[in-house]
Amino acid sequence: MSLPHEVGAPDQYGVVGHPVEHSWSPFIHGMFAKAAAQNLVYRLFDIHPDNFRRETLRLMTGGVRGRNVTVPHKQAAAELVNELTPRAARAQAVNTIAFFENATLLGDNTDGVGLITDLERNLQIDLADKRVLLLGAGGAARGVVGPLLERELRSLTIANRTPYKARKLAAEFADVGPIAGCTFADIEGPSYDLIVNATSAGLQGEMPVLPAGLVSESTVCYDMVYGRGPPPFTRWASALKAGRISKGWGMLIEQAAESFLLWRGIRPNTQPVLAALAQN
Ligand code: ATR
Repeated sequence: MSLPHEVGAPDQYGVVGHPVEHSWSPFIHGMFAKAAAQNLVYRLFDIHPDNFRRETLRLMTGGVRGRNVTVPHKQAAAELVNELTPRAARAQAVNTIAFFENATLLGDNTDGVGLITDLERNLQIDLADKRVLLLGAGGAARGVVGPLLERELRSLTIANRTPYKARKLAAEFADVGPIAGCTFADIEGPSYDLIVNATSAGLQGEMPVLPAGLVSESTVCYDMVYGRGPPPFTRWASALKAGRISKGWGMLIEQAAESFLLWRGIRPNTQPVLAALAQN
C-alpha cells in the first residue's frame, strides 16, 4: 500500500571526473534542487580515463538521468554520446550528458555560456575589443573558445604545454574570429586584458612557467579549474598584482545552472549559490 504523499525515488545525476572528490557540484545542484523543489540526488563518480567509456555506459543503464563530465573526460564524452548539441559539436567537448528513455545520450557543453555569463553578468566585464589569453587546449578550453570569440574580441591567444594542440584548436576556430595558438614560452606581450586558466596543472599543484609582462593592474585573471589546495594560478596572478582575480566559482555555478536547465527544464536562480560559495 502506498502512502498518500509518498514521494518516488529521486532521479539520479552526478559528475564523472578524475580526480573529482574536490568537486562542489553536488553542493551546487543540491541547492538548485531544493530551491526548485526537484526530487533528485547528485553524486561524485571518480572514473579513470581507461574505464571512462565502459563505466559511464554502465552508470547510464542504472537509471541515471544525467551526468556532468569534468577533467579529463570532456573530449572522450563527445565521442561517447549519440548526439551533440550544436555548441558541443563545435567544441568537440561535452560537460553535460542527458540520458533519454529511448536510450539516446545527448551531449551538451555549458562551459562557454557559464564563463560568459559570469564575466558579463556577475563581474560586469565587457569583452568587446579585449586581448584575451587562454591557457590550455584540452576539453575545458575547447568549450569556451567559440563563445569567447563571438564576443568580438580583439584577439584570442591559446597557449598550451603541447603547442600543436593549441595551434590545432586555433585553426578549428579561425573562421569565427582572430585567434592564434602557441607554446607558453612564445606568448607575446604587452599585458592581456583577460587571462583564463583552462589547464589542469593546478590539480597537480602546478602553474606553467609563463614569460614576464603578461599581467598588469588592469588584467583580469580567471581560473576555470579548481582543485583541493590553494590554487596556483590565482596565487601567480596575485603575486603579479593582477587588477582582478576570480577563482571561477561563478562559471562553475552558471554552467551548472545551464546543465540543470537541460535536465529539468528549469533555470535556477544562481545568486543564492554565488553568495554561499563566495565565502570560500
Ligand atoms: P580538461 O577537460 O580539464 O581540459 P584535458 O582535456 O585533460 O582536461 O586537458 C588538460 C589541459 O591542461 C591540457 O591543455 C594540458 O596540456 P597538454 O595538452 O600539454 O597535456 C594542460 N595541463 C595539464 N597538466 C599541465 C601542467 N602540469 N602544466 C601545464 N599544462 C598542463
